[in-house]
Amino acid sequence: MGCCSGYGCDEFFGERFARRTSRRYREKGLEKTATRLRDLLAVRRGDAALEIGGGVGGLLAELVKAGAESGRLVEVVSGYEPFARAVFRHAGVEAEFVLADIVADPTAVEPAEVVALNKVVCCTPDGPQLVGAAAGLTLRRLAFSFPRERRSFALAARLQNLLFRLLRRRFRVFVHSRAALVGAAEGQGLRLVHERPGPFWVVVGFERA
Ligand SMILES: C[S@@+](CC[C@H](N)C(=O)[O-])C[C@H]1O[C@@H](n2cnc3c(N)ncnc32)[C@H](O)[C@@H]1O
Repeated sequence: MGCCSGYGCDEFFGERFARRTSRRYREKGLEKTATRLRDLLAVRRGDAALEIGGGVGGLLAELVKAGAESGRLVEVVSGYEPFARAVFRHAGVEAEFVLADIVADPTAVEPAEVVALNKVVCCTPDGPQLVGAAAGLTLRRLAFSFPRERRSFALAARLQNLLFRLLRRRFRVFVHSRAALVGAAEGQGLRLVHERPGPFWVVVGFERA
C-alpha cells in the first residue's frame, strides 16, 4: 500500500470520479489549471513527459500531442488505468500507466524532461515530499498546482476533513505551506520561474538551474 492509498485516495477517487473526469476531458478538453500547466511546460519535440497523480491522463495526453516522445502517468489508484488507456486511445497517443507511489518509490519511473502534478499535493500529507520526489525526476521543467495558502481555505479543509471523519472516510485534504512546496523543488536544484495565483489554485513553474 502506498502512502496516498494509505490516506484513502483509492477509496475517494473511484470509478465515478474517473468516469466523470474522462468524459469531461473528451467533451470539453483540459480544464483551466491543467491548460496552464501544459502551456508552462512548453514541451519540445523528443522530450519525455511525466505526469504524477495524473488521474485519467488528459494532461499527459496533451503533452504527448504537443510533441513529447514518450509519456508516463504515475498513479496510486489502479482503478484509473482502463480510463487512462481509453483517454490515450481517444487522443491518439501512446503513453504508459505506472501504478506506484512516487514518494515511497521515486525510482519507479525514469526522470523526464517535463514533469507535471495537477491538484495532487493537496491529496496527501506528504505534499512537500511529493514535490521533492517530482523535482528529483525533472530534467528540464516542473509545473504543479496547489491550493492557495489562505486561512479561509485551511479552515474549509478542516471542516471538510471533519465531515470525512464523521463519514468514516480515510481521505483528507491538505493546504500546504507555499514555502515548503517551493522549497522542496528548490532543494532539488530547480529555480522558480513562474508563479500565478488564481482564485483557488496557484500554478508554479520551475526550471533546472
Ligand atoms: C485530485 S486527483 C487529481 C487527478 C488529476 N491530476 C486531475 O487533475 O484530474 C489527485 C491524484 O493524485 C494521486 N496521488 C496522490 N498522491 C500520489 C503519489 N504519492 N503518487 C502518485 N499519485 C498520487 C491520487 O491518486 C489522485 O488520483
